[in-house]
Amino acid sequence: MGLLEGKKALVMGVGNKRSIAWGIATAFQREGAELAFNYATDRLKENVVELVGTLPEHERIPVMPCDVSKQQEIDALFAELERRWGTLDVLVHSIAFAALEDLKGRFVEISREGLKTAVEISAFSLVALCRGALPLFEKAGGGSVMSLTYNAVERVVPSYNSMAMAKAVLEAETRYLAADLGPQNVRVNAISAGPLKTLAGSAVKGISAARDLMEAKAPLRRNITQEEVGNVAVFLASDWSRAVTGATIFADNGFNILGVTE
Ligand SMILES: NC(=O)c1ccc[n+]([C@@H]2O[C@H](COP(=O)([O-])OP(=O)(O)OC[C@H]3O[C@@H](n4cnc5c(N)ncnc54)[C@H](O)[C@@H]3O)[C@@H](O)[C@H]2O)c1
Repeated sequence: MGLLEGKKALVMGVGNKRSIAWGIATAFQREGAELAFNYATDRLKENVVELVGTLPEHERIPVMPCDVSKQQEIDALFAELERRWGTLDVLVHSIAFAALEDLKGRFVEISREGLKTAVEISAFSLVALCRGALPLFEKAGGGSVMSLTYNAVERVVPSYNSMAMAKAVLEAETRYLAADLGPQNVRVNAISAGPLKTLAGSAVKGISAARDLMEAKAPLRRNITQEEVGNVAVFLASDWSRAVTGATIFADNGFNILGVTE
């Protein structure tokens, strides 16, 4: 029997087959979870529908529009999920967006609007989605929420400028949401993944160099894969992590523990 048998999981942030969200979805599917997805734009709908079409019993899988910058789309998503499922056990937030010009260049030059956009789409959305999901979690007797972060919060990573600020907010939200929702048996955690060549990852200049560095220097001397992040997500979604909330768990082959690398 799979670790997630009987669990209903909404996975948000699949853009293409390289998306971390897709790695998580396939790991969840392997462990027996029932899945639902969103797509951010009409342009991405085709990709998501095509990928979902590769899953068993895909006709039953809800695939819904939701651009997290639009409250009415968030409301419509949860109304549809309420109608289709009635309850929810797991919410995956694997969403980030920042304008390219606010990632590169001098940090001191980040624009006011650029910072607002990065924080709104990549961090405030976690709060908005938790609020929407809460009534469904309550009907399930609790829930598990997870988001994706990167260790550019406590360390300075070049070309991560506005996104680093968004991730700092996201990680703080993880703790505040965990404290707020804990009495309703809702757990909230973040996975801090190592660098992966995804669409969002490739927007960060130097992702290939970061992967080379990880392979050469990380304690485990290799790179991280989508599947490995998916397996950490399985743990967080499962009852085996029922004592874990408010945590940021590293899935980075131990790279975060290093100071100066030789
Ligand atoms: N790739 C990496 O190296 C890496 C490392 C650590 C953390 N992360 C984080 O993982 C998460 C997923 O990114 P990814 O690397 O899989 O890239 P990705 O581009 O495949 O996924 C990002 C997703 O965000 C969605 N999105 C953007 N704006 C949106 C909006 N307004 N509404 C709804 N969805 C929106 C996109 O549609 C896309 O599916 C992000 O939070 C990212 O910061 C990535």
